[in-house]
Amino acid sequence: MKILFYDTKNYDKESFEAILPKFAKALGGNGAEPDVTIEYVKSDLDPRTARMAEGFDAVCAFVSSDVGEKTLTILKEKGVGLVLMRCAGFNNVDMAKAKELEIRVMRVPGYSPEAVAEHAMALALASNRRLYKAYNKVRENDFSLNGLMGFNLYQKTAGIIGTGKIGAAMCRICHGFGMKVIAYDVYQNESLKDFVTYVTLGELLAQSDLISLHCPLMDSTYHLINIDTIKKMKDGVILVNTSRGALVKTEDLIMGIRMHKFAGVALDVYEEETPNVFENRSDEILEHSITARLLSFPNVMITSHQGFFTREALEAIAETTLQNACDYVEGKESPNDVK
Ligand code: NAI
Repeated sequence: MKILFYDTKNYDKESFEAILPKFAKALGGNGAEPDVTIEYVKSDLDPRTARMAEGFDAVCAFVSSDVGEKTLTILKEKGVGLVLMRCAGFNNVDMAKAKELEIRVMRVPGYSPEAVAEHAMALALASNRRLYKAYNKVRENDFSLNGLMGFNLYQKTAGIIGTGKIGAAMCRICHGFGMKVIAYDVYQNESLKDFVTYVTLGELLAQSDLISLHCPLMDSTYHLINIDTIKKMKDGVILVNTSRGALVKTEDLIMGIRMHKFAGVALDVYEEETPNVFENRSDEILEHSITARLLSFPNVMITSHQGFFTREALEAIAETTLQNACDYVEGKESPNDVK
């Protein structure tokens, strides 16, 4: 089997190559000399680069890829029968077209909820204790404590919005810190009932010292955090978003920051990720960037969508993606099929 791997970063190649021998036989090799090959290219998948897939059985794509109608049509012409999404989301795939062309699409639904939850807590701690500021101060030989005061998380209230896989992991972490954990979700997670109290969104906003977002981006959650919901929050709250940028209305967040609502705001995701203001860094983009405006506030810290980025998560992504390829070769149905 031949797989063309788009938008390759060094760490992708390392994690896939490390695990490939385990799957070689299943993917059509004889074990010693696998006849499965992955060719890695830096370009992302789009209608222009889809032509490179001539002679490949499958392509491997990511959240940033354009797997729309045009791309799929070209892939079909080139003989590709499988799109392996090495991520959970598939909103960038035209599934109706994929079905029409009989191209199978598979994904990695959950790889390491703890990776994202641990990053959410890292953001909460770094923001609360101003670690980003402390790090720079000490490097500049300034050992004063000005501007570094935080508050104890112990016995404070954590409000978790969305208690699926990642939100549940965040609840466990906050419970471990001795926090009172309250949550809001459209469904209650039974596994958390011993230490999490479900409340309404309004109650969560009013009671929480730390609010962490873990629900998916949908019509019902778009701009869930806006000026009305911000006004309901406690003064001095810490807001963490590791879920999707558009859960938060950035303009309103800036208004809230100006109203001194937040002790800290820590974001791993932000509305301007596409196109990524930081990857396509140019003075013009930065000048008009609302993310850059956010960064001008001393109590805001932003990371570059790295919540998933741990060794374990990358291993799990590689393992599940190659297992998906095996299931395709063997004609097996899979829960990872996108339907
Ligand atoms: P999940 O599907 O296990 O859980 C989502 C939870 O949100 C469910 O319990 C669902 O009932 C709840 N929910 C749905 N609508 C809601 C609403 N209107 N209000 C409150 N809760 C609602 O998803 P998982 O795996 O926990 O992922 C959560 C999100 O994390 C993903 O949607 C994705 O946006 C983000 N993510 C971020 C990553 C990063 O690197 N920063 C990596 C992976 C995921």
